[in-house]
Amino acid sequence: MKKGLFITLEGIDFSGKSTQARYLINFLKRNNIQHLFLREPGGTKLSERIRRILLSKGEIDICPKSELWLYQAARSQIVQEKIIPAVKDGKIVICDRFYDSTTAYQSYGRGLELKFIQRINLFAAEGIKPDLTLLFDLPEKKAFERKSKLNRAKDRLENEKLAFFRRVRKGYLELAENNKRRMKVINADGPKEKVRDEMLETVVSFLKRRKIRIRM
Ligand code: TMP
Repeated sequence: MKKGLFITLEGIDFSGKSTQARYLINFLKRNNIQHLFLREPGGTKLSERIRRILLSKGEIDICPKSELWLYQAARSQIVQEKIIPAVKDGKIVICDRFYDSTTAYQSYGRGLELKFIQRINLFAAEGIKPDLTLLFDLPEKKAFERKSKLNRAKDRLENEKLAFFRRVRKGYLELAENNKRRMKVINADGPKEKVRDEMLETVVSFLKRRKIRIRM
């Protein structure tokens, strides 16, 4: 029997999602809400190893289909080992990326067949669906402006071209349009405190509907 909740965070690279994740975790801590914070790909020994391969800085050739299976392999492990047990235990599981990333990046971005990807997403995820997905939406050009200001090496995906991120963003927005109840679009184009406030408002109204008491 499912007792906890499963919340996922999505967005193109440089959308500020990980900063917002930290705000969200602090908010849950302040409210003494039992939670588990995870990321994809990652979160288990196997999945973190796969992450290293996937995000290598271009030294390993990975074709789109291999890339797809690697993300799914990492996902199967984290779902079985971490997400399902924590949700059963009543925790709020926050996951930085989940299968909407695969739909957006591997289908819209790389061009692999959408229906097939959505089927194997559910297969790898044991059929679990997020209760809430926050999509941090940022125009790809703005993401690239942020990227050019960052003074660190970029990983394999971050090094993709603007057109790739345009397709990924379009994919996310279409997903949000088709999953209005589950997916909430947060405008990530602004100061991080403003984005935080919009995110927390969305989370608070979601938790209230689930009868979870909170203070801001
Ligand atoms: P991040 O955790 O720093 O966002 O890096 C993960 C990268 O992997 C990011 O560029 C998005 C990409 N990704 C996919 O292409 N497909 C997936 O299924 C997942 C989970 C991530």
